[in-house]
Amino acid sequence: MKTMIRKIDEINIDKQVIQEAGEILKDGGLVAFPTETVYGLGADALNEEAAAKTYAAKGRPSDNPLIVHIAELEALKKIAEKIPLSAIRLAESFWPGPLTMIFDKSEAVPYGTTGGLNTVAVRMPNNEIARELIRAAGGYVSAPSANTSGRPSPTTAEHVREDLDGKIDMILDGGSVEIGLESTILDMTVIPPMILRPGAITAEMMEPVIGNVSIDETVMGKETEQAPKAPGMKYRHYAPKAKLLIVEGNIKEEVLAIRQLCYEGMRNGKKVGIIATSETLRYYTNGVIKNIGSRENEKTIARNLYAVLREFDEAGVDIIFSESFAVGGIGSAIMNRLEKAAGHLCISAAKVAGRQKYRRIVFVSDTDTCRGPMAAELLRQKELYQEYVIDSRGMVVLFPEPVNQKAEAVMKSAQMTMAGHTAEAFSESEIDAEILLLTMNESQKKKISAEYGEDIAVYTMTEFVGDDGEILNPYGKPLSSYGECMKKLSGLIDKLTEKLNSFTKK
Ligand code: TXA
Ligand code: MG
Repeated sequence: MKTMIRKIDEINIDKQVIQEAGEILKDGGLVAFPTETVYGLGADALNEEAAAKTYAAKGRPSDNPLIVHIAELEALKKIAEKIPLSAIRLAESFWPGPLTMIFDKSEAVPYGTTGGLNTVAVRMPNNEIARELIRAAGGYVSAPSANTSGRPSPTTAEHVREDLDGKIDMILDGGSVEIGLESTILDMTVIPPMILRPGAITAEMMEPVIGNVSIDETVMGKETEQAPKAPGMKYRHYAPKAKLLIVEGNIKEEVLAIRQLCYEGMRNGKKVGIIATSETLRYYTNGVIKNIGSRENEKTIARNLYAVLREFDEAGVDIIFSESFAVGGIGSAIMNRLEKAAGHLCISAAKVAGRQKYRRIVFVSDTDTCRGPMAAELLRQKELYQEYVIDSRGMVVLFPEPVNQKAEAVMKSAQMTMAGHTAEAFSESEIDAEILLLTMNESQKKKISAEYGEDIAVYTMTEFVGDDGEILNPYGKPLSSYGECMKKLSGLIDKLTEKLNSFTKK
């Protein structure tokens, strides 16, 4: 089947295109169209065969019911029975909008549309293209999200094309959607009404209108034995191809843990993706890093979530680490979709971060032009199980000199270089709980302890690895002494590597 793609502008709707699309639906065909939440795959909701086609195109299990979309409140009566007054109040407050309500179904609705259930889900979308299309199709359009079952929901016409090209009659391309997450589903057949899927319309928004609203307990948090009340919520959908892990903690811990997990993943040959935010983006250096939006405005995160998951598929990453988001407002819907995408795989940021004894290693020498930078460079060549920031500093640095030429020569002969280094003085501002200071000799260590306190982690290099003696300064001596110095440092760095790796369980 050839899928026609028609551009359409919500501000200036081409009636001709709507007419054409409406005819397709009336004839039992399939048309994908934009709504304010995600793109929907439309069919005539009152035509049993059209529902069957919808399931086939999506590859969706046919016990998963469809939402019927209407354009006028009047239209509700024909498809729903026992409509409570509270539903009318909600409709008046939130329709058209991202709220789906479940009612007992009338005879007009075929079981094909409701997946065999005696109830029907109904929503009036807040998108002019969608409502014009519904009118042109006769008033009742069933529409699941227009993705292949199991993939993230489509937020652009391009996403729909990726999944359904050749399987449906037409795609109406109305640009990017506004919200980006599917509608809130509220079951009106129980008292109090129950949220089966969180969305942009939250319990806090509905309660002033109708009083108490409950939440299906399978919606948030860990996987339970209990089956979710919305059949579709039981599938691991919204899912990217890669394994997704949510890292939970305070934001600083999350960043540190994700950095470490990314480092470990890459060491194991994995292509790693990171879901970051505008606020944290700059703290990541490795992996495929995607900015999902701003924590200041969580709507941006909702809008980008599915597109970002699709981008990771395209990038071919093996594993994705995501920061977590506050639950409340649209945040609940974001976390719900993220947790489903992750198949509820969460890890504690504090646990990962707690494995790390030190994060930064600074080699301290006198002038930071020879032994210190050599040690730092030797350590950078090692395979470390943990990510460290490795630096060198000097006790008496008066100006930013490059490294000693003889030191550079011996390093070069071993295929290393310190060309990018300039001497830097050690300063108090660098001291924090996660720093390990390794000095060349006893007097440097004593000086640091005396000046900055006993509880900083400062050791001589030899002491730290369980050896005796000091590392002598080869300054003013022949090239061979520099070679000796590098050899001595190299042996110590081997031992240091072993010791550091023993802190991090593999
Ligand atoms: O925002 C939305 O709701 C989008 C746009 C296109 O309107 N549609 C959408 O449809 O997300 P879909 O099919 O991807 O998700 C519908 C969800 C499924 O989880 C389904 O199980 C649930 O609604 N559902 C539909 N009818 C139901 C019913 N009678 N009882 C319980 N759950 C129902
Ligand atoms: Mg869906």
